[in-house]
Amino acid sequence: MKTTGRKPRVALLIGGVSGEHSISCLTAAGVLRNIDLERFDVLVIGITRSGHWVLVPAEPEALEGGHAEVPADAPGVTLVKDGANEVRLIGTNGTHADFGVVDVVLPLLHGPFGEDGTVQGMFEMLGVRYVGSGVLASAAGMDKHMTKVVLQQAGLPVGNYVAVTPAAWQRDREGVLAQCAALASPLFVKPARAGSSLGITKVDDVAELAAAIQAAHEHDPKVIVEEGVTAREIEVAVLAGRDGRPRVAPVGEVVMDLAPDEFYDWETKYFSHDAVSMQAPAQLPEDVAQRIADYAAATFEALECEGLARVDFFYTDSGEILVNEINTMPGMTPYSMYPYMWQQAGLSYRELVTELIELALARPVGLR
Ligand SMILES: Nc1ncnc2c1ncn2[C@@H]1O[C@H](COP(=O)(O)OP(=O)(O)O)[C@@H](O)[C@H]1O
Ligand SMILES: [Mg+2]
Repeated sequence: MKTTGRKPRVALLIGGVSGEHSISCLTAAGVLRNIDLERFDVLVIGITRSGHWVLVPAEPEALEGGHAEVPADAPGVTLVKDGANEVRLIGTNGTHADFGVVDVVLPLLHGPFGEDGTVQGMFEMLGVRYVGSGVLASAAGMDKHMTKVVLQQAGLPVGNYVAVTPAAWQRDREGVLAQCAALASPLFVKPARAGSSLGITKVDDVAELAAAIQAAHEHDPKVIVEEGVTAREIEVAVLAGRDGRPRVAPVGEVVMDLAPDEFYDWETKYFSHDAVSMQAPAQLPEDVAQRIADYAAATFEALECEGLARVDFFYTDSGEILVNEINTMPGMTPYSMYPYMWQQAGLSYRELVTELIELALARPVGLR
């Protein structure tokens, strides 16, 4: 698109109603500190924990620390399409304040109602450009069950699992438990559509399965129960290509020094800085790294992703490669794995943010 004579105006959309609100704020601070202000104008729209849209000052300080929140008392705003077919940010609550045109949205939201196609649907309805995957890829990528359905169909390797829909759980609890008990233990019980390891329980004894499913229900009425594997955790950063072919950074590894019964849970992800380190490129036999990179690009394409994604793998002790999950809006703090892997590939955080925005600006609106 053309923004004749002026810099494109980028609206960061941050916070949100999911459990990853503060992580989103942290990512936003990283983007604000690094976005190229010579090329772009920046606005920040916050979604409060209760779902209200507000205008947030474009200041990273207030968003850092890992416990930051979008201020609930900031002025209310909303995006509308004006008579000239441009999308504008305007005040709500009868103020009629006009904060100007928005050329492209950078939704830095993680989890449900941010990464799952819902807000992407709103952008589609408005006809505003935005960074990242569209409605279908976002929704399928958020749902760990649907991700596996699509990947299996594309011939990509995924682990064994049982999807526990709310209807099945209500209708036939005993049957569901029996199906899950047929999987090899330990089991990993997860909300189908959460992130940051929220609501995940490792179950060694099937007697604890029902309680673990109930714990996952705190986050999502739909649950997935997976066969546990003993594996290294390999992550791959994918960026949409300019030539239609996804770009893949050298594969990375989350190297963990954990007790045998622990896993990469919320605490470990965000607070155990000593026990976890990122290694990119990962130390893997070349053919294994190449296969994982190929699977990552194939995963991106199978789900019809756009913009960016991080594809996470298990490389099991028996040498098997499994796709674990995809994140269509991966953590993007300057310390996160996604930008780190691109840095190792020679693309700085600032260049990465520029590239993501330019990809979105170059993409047409409407069905693609
Ligand atoms: N099937 C599994 N086998 C072994 N470990 C698992 C399995 N599934 C999840 N885990 C552990 O739990 C962590 C979080 O699970 P994941 O599916 O990545 O959910 P999230 O979307 O919350 O990151 C993984 O990084 C891994 O440490
Ligand atoms: Mg994960």
